[in-house]
Amino acid sequence: MVIFAGKGGLGKTTCSAALSYAVANNRKVLCFSTDPQASLSDIFEKNIFGKGEVEILPNLFVVEIDADTKIARYIEEIKQKIRDMYKTEIPPEIESYIDSSVAEPAMYESATYDAMAGYLAEGSYGLYVFDMPPFGHGIRMITMADILSAWVEKLTEAREKAREYDEIARKLKGEKLVKEDDVLNELYDIKKRLTTFTDVMKDKNKAAFFMVITPERMSIIDTEKALEMFKSVGLELSGIVVNKVLPPEMASNPSPFIVNKLKQQRECMNEIMEKFGKLVISIIPMFPREPRGLEGIAAVSKHLMNGGIEWT
Ligand SMILES: Nc1ncnc2c1ncn2[C@@H]1O[C@H](COP(=O)(O)OP(=O)(O)O)[C@@H](O)[C@H]1O
Ligand SMILES: [Mg+2]
Repeated sequence: MVIFAGKGGLGKTTCSAALSYAVANNRKVLCFSTDPQASLSDIFEKNIFGKGEVEILPNLFVVEIDADTKIARYIEEIKQKIRDMYKTEIPPEIESYIDSSVAEPAMYESATYDAMAGYLAEGSYGLYVFDMPPFGHGIRMITMADILSAWVEKLTEAREKAREYDEIARKLKGEKLVKEDDVLNELYDIKKRLTTFTDVMKDKNKAAFFMVITPERMSIIDTEKALEMFKSVGLELSGIVVNKVLPPEMASNPSPFIVNKLKQQRECMNEIMEKFGKLVISIIPMFPREPRGLEGIAAVSKHLMNGGIEWT
């Protein structure tokens, strides 16, 4: 799997689409967007939001999940499971507790995570490209696997204990043992999906993380922080894509505005190359128009896969 991280607006979705486009040449690719302001629909000029896996080209599939609908459906499923298991209506205080969990910020991330892990566990693609939501988030999503796993582990233990006690109580009363525990099965299922995901994520031969940055001070500071964050969670950044770089040929016959812009950019580019040079895998030029549609994506893709413009 490949994950593009970085601040919003710098080109994660564009790069995700461009890489998917290139790789689809020789293997089946799923490009998955986790951004609430997702724009794979815009980029591919096709409404794919909430529509599941949509085939854009042979071998190129795109998903933009509708996390809100997914959460609503999930909550309804949980309620139905409770009704089925306990053969009763849900007490109002419990129902309102379940309803209020929809508003939890982590709910959105969990739902997205679950969807990502689900696709990966199915394993029907050769490459999964995950386009992360804007930065802090991007890394938070990545580290969330561990938090979720620990949490599911605890819940499972508690549930197993409860089931043990339940069985003892039933035996003492001479009642028959109940059928399988749906809650426990659900927890085992979630755990399996998460484990598949984290196993792949932590395997350097199977997962790569790229950051998309631009030649600006803010971006440099951000990248330094991100590198530390990656290190702190035991992951390695595979590379950096510098996007929206003004083509050097702009320097011929420039206006004072452009002269300034180019100067500022050169300063930042020098700093980027000095600090992260080894990680830089591609320098993508600023296009005169937003790269859209298959033609636009193909143009970005060419740069992304070939190192982009030369920088000296
Ligand atoms: N190299 C580029 N040249 C011109 N516009 C670009 C380039 N890369 C991205 N853009 C535009 O910048 C905006 C943000 O890009 P996007 O890929 O959506 O960023 P992110 O997913 O990181 O928020 C979009 O409007 C996109 O079309
Ligand atoms: Mg995006």
